[in-house]
Amino acid sequence: MDKKNIEIITSIKKIQARSDTLRCLGKKIALIPTMGFLHKGHLSLISEGKKYCDDIVLSIYVNPTQFAPGEDLETYPKSLEQDIELAQKQGANVVFLPEDKQIYQDGFQTYVELEKLPHHLCGMSRPTHFKGVATVVTKLFNIVKPHIAVFGQKDFQQLAVIKRMVQDLNFDIKIIGIPTVREADGLAMSSRNSNLTKDQRKSALALHSALLKAQNLYKNRINDASRLIKAASNVILSKPDLAIDYIQICDPETLESIETLTKPTLMALAVKIGKTRLIDNMILYP
Ligand code: PAJ
Repeated sequence: MDKKNIEIITSIKKIQARSDTLRCLGKKIALIPTMGFLHKGHLSLISEGKKYCDDIVLSIYVNPTQFAPGEDLETYPKSLEQDIELAQKQGANVVFLPEDKQIYQDGFQTYVELEKLPHHLCGMSRPTHFKGVATVVTKLFNIVKPHIAVFGQKDFQQLAVIKRMVQDLNFDIKIIGIPTVREADGLAMSSRNSNLTKDQRKSALALHSALLKAQNLYKNRINDASRLIKAASNVILSKPDLAIDYIQICDPETLESIETLTKPTLMALAVKIGKTRLIDNMILYP
C-alpha cells in the first residue's frame, strides 16, 4: 500500500529486505519506534532522525507485552490515518505496522530483561513493563536494521534501559535521546493526554509545576532530596484529583535514589489522574 510518497509496510520479511538493499546502497536508516496516536513529541523524533539519516522508518505498534493486566492496552488511543499523514508530512519514508501475530508468534518465549534499571521509578508499579519494552525494541532493531534509533527523554527510564541494553548486547545502533516536547502551558505531550477531561487537563499542569518548583529550590541552594520531593508533592497534592504514584530524585545514569544533590540530578514523577497515569521528569541543575 502506498500513500503519496510514504510506504506502509506490514511484513517483517519485506522491511528486512528493504533495509538490506538500502544498506548495500550506503544509505543510513533511522528507526523511530512509537505506539501511534502521534503528537509533536513523536514528530520531533522524526526531525532528529532526518539530521543523521537518508531513510526514516516510523514504527507504530501497541506492544502488548509492556502492558500488565488491568492497564490500558485495550483503550490505548488510535488514529492510524492521521498518524500516516503526520508521519508523511514530517518526512518519514516508511510507516511499519506489524501485527501481533507476526511479532509474537505461537510458542514465543524469548525476552530481554535488564537486572537493575527496570526496578526503579516506573518499574516499582509496572514490574514487567521494561521487559516488554526491551524485548519489542530488540525485535524492532532486528527487523528494521537501523543505523540510529531516536527516543524521547520524556520516558527517561525507557531511554536509559535502551541505551544500557544496546551497550550490553553490542547492538551496532546509535541511540539518540531528544528533549521532552511540551504544550505551550508546560504539560509534556503524551498520547494519553487525550484521555483527560477538561478539568483533569488543568490539574495535569501540576506535574510540570512540581518539577519547576524543585528546580527553583535547588537553584536556591536547597539540596536535600527529601525537601525537594516534599515541595513537589505539595504542588501535586494541591489538586484533589491527582494521586502520586512516585516522585523521586535519582542519579540519571543508575536511577538510584540520591539523598543530597551535588550535581545535575534527575527528578522523575508519575501521577494518576482518574484512570490515566502520566509521567514527567526534569534534570535539576544547581
Ligand atoms: P510512545 O509512548 O508512542 O513513544 C514513542 C517515542 O516518543 C518514545 O521514544 C517517547 O519517549 C517519545 N515521546 C513521547 N512523548 C514525547 C514528548 N512529549 N517529547 C519527546 N518525545 C516524546 O515509548 C513508547 O511509545 C513505547 O514504549 C515504544 C518505545 C514504542 C516500545 O513499544
